[in-house]
Amino acid sequence: MKIKSLLLTAALPLTLTLAACSGGTNPDVSARQDAMKDWKDAMGVMGGMAEAPDTFDLAKFQENAQFVAETADKPWGHFTDQNEMGGATEAVWTNADGFKTQAENFQQAAAELNTTAQNATTLEEVLPALKPVGDGCQSCHEDFKQPKS
Ligand code: HEC
Repeated sequence: MKIKSLLLTAALPLTLTLAACSGGTNPDVSARQDAMKDWKDAMGVMGGMAEAPDTFDLAKFQENAQFVAETADKPWGHFTDQNEMGGATEAVWTNADGFKTQAENFQQAAAELNTTAQNATTLEEVLPALKPVGDGCQSCHEDFKQPKS
């Protein structure tokens, strides 16, 4: 019993410290980061086919394009609290209009990719619509996401 209570007292300050400095446990921060990670996976699948055309799988491409399009508005409502910066930059809040524009352009590119993919039969048809989506990720990250530490 004595050991257990010692462990408890030792663990408590550690939990508090972690919560205070990472912010990763905040539900909004994890929700938006999880959404972004899923996009990274989906883009990885589609980008992989672009780089290795003989692996092109239309159904798989369509599935991933649809996923990104259908979740393209998901993270933005999780950027309300400026105290929970996570891996974002201050610009998300100080340049809220710019952030919104980036999000809207991205949603449009994702919707166009999906429409294109659902009506396509070849990799050549979908590739031109994939690039604007990747550019959308990147151009938003330039200003609004902290560089990887
Ligand atoms: C409108 C802006 C915007 C767009 C568009 C956008 N992102 Fe992000 N992304 C962010 C911000 C801001 C963060 C930092 C979020 C945080 O840590 O709180 C981020 C974080 C990430 C992360 C890190 C997540 C983590 O675990 O910390 C990945 C991976 C990512 N984005 C991938 C993508 C991909 C792939 C796309 C395109 C399909 C994309 N993002 C589109 C703004 C954007």
